Amino acid sequence: MELNDKIRTRQARIGIIGLGYVGLPLAVEFAKAGFEVTGFDVDGSKVDAINRGESYIGDVSSEDVAASSKAGKLSATTDMARLHDMDAIDICVPTPLRKTRDPDLSYVVLAVDAVKARLRKGQLIILESTTYPGTTDEVVQPALEEGGLKAGADFHLAFSPERVDPGNPTHHTRNIPKVVGGVNETSTALAAALYGSIIGTIVPVSSTQVAEMVKLLENTFRAVNIGLVNEIALMSHRMNIDVWEVIEAAATKPFGFMPFFPGPGLGGHCIPIDPFYLSWKARQNGFECRFIELAGHINGSMPSFVVERVSEALNSQKKAINGSRIHILGVAYKKDVSDMRESPALDVMELLHRRGAALSYTDPYVPTLDHTGLSLQ
Ligand SMILES: NC(=O)c1ccc[n+]([C@@H]2O[C@H](COP(=O)([O-])OP(=O)(O)OC[C@H]3O[C@@H](n4cnc5c(N)ncnc54)[C@H](O)[C@@H]3O)[C@@H](O)[C@H]2O)c1
Repeated sequence: MELNDKIRTRQARIGIIGLGYVGLPLAVEFAKAGFEVTGFDVDGSKVDAINRGESYIGDVSSEDVAASSKAGKLSATTDMARLHDMDAIDICVPTPLRKTRDPDLSYVVLAVDAVKARLRKGQLIILESTTYPGTTDEVVQPALEEGGLKAGADFHLAFSPERVDPGNPTHHTRNIPKVVGGVNETSTALAAALYGSIIGTIVPVSSTQVAEMVKLLENTFRAVNIGLVNEIALMSHRMNIDVWEVIEAAATKPFGFMPFFPGPGLGGHCIPIDPFYLSWKARQNGFECRFIELAGHINGSMPSFVVERVSEALNSQKKAINGSRIHILGVAYKKDVSDMRESPALDVMELLHRRGAALSYTDPYVPTLDHTGLSLQ
């Protein structure tokens, strides 16, 4: 049976590599739509949790995982040999930065190697991990073709950026339009058909590079606008103007303005990282991304500004940071999530700790912070 028919009749077997914030919600949606889904992860504890019918991601309920698993539609494994049995494979592994702020594609490369060793004719491979334009055709495609099969002829290959927003009660996997770009028309059409079975709106684009760039534009847009509003906050403070009142009033303009809000810095696996994938790739092409660098600089300076404000507040009470007991309310990178990745709260706490503060914190989503090395009370 052709893959298109298998997708239409829900007989396509779907493999999801990487069962994190992106992969698990996707796996559950495909399972709920009637597909047989196998999750692949190198983390045995996640695999075990899914096979026990338990979720470890805030936006996915254990009831959904348990129901899909009980119906025989969702299982997980660390055994990559089973990739061979899949008709469609979605790669959702991390794409962090190296210390030098260069892209770290090592997880993608390992996942692609696992697929390469089992690749067979007719399979559809989709990369979902956020990455720089050119990754799919310059890194993924040549690696997959090493075994002799050709993308677009023997197997199908596409990129589709994930837009999930953890903790967002309104927008989730099913109702966030999905952009897809394949290495050829058939790949795009098959990826669109696959996602179309679980997502309301599919947005096909002309190439994998366009699809990769779409995601980086979206996240760069956020990083730059947050950088702008953080700069406005810093200058408003200097001019004794209430920046929150300014933003609230500006947001009454019914067109041409979108409110962004200042904060202690950027967090999560996307906004602080993704724009640097773009600036790295642009640099390879002799182009300097000034907006991205500037926004990164301003956003990165916000934890120091917070500490400066704490110092001023204590000073006004004839106190120093050194020896003060300081309680942090909320440490995850945004509200209603437990995700600590890149959380600026950790930078603020580190700076306060170095200045001699005695720290404690409360966050209903983050019961322990043992790994930070900070002495918490
Ligand atoms: N978190 C978000 O809100 C979000 C939103 C949109 C896009 N993205 C992008 O999606 C990708 C995944 O992000 P995430 O937040 O889901 O990451 P995550 O860390 O939550 O999950 C990634 C999973 O991949 C597994 N993994 C790592 N290497 C593997 C390998 N070789 N084989 C199998 N499994 C492997 C890890 O064990 C982990 O469970 C990243 O590129 C990220 O930028 C994330």
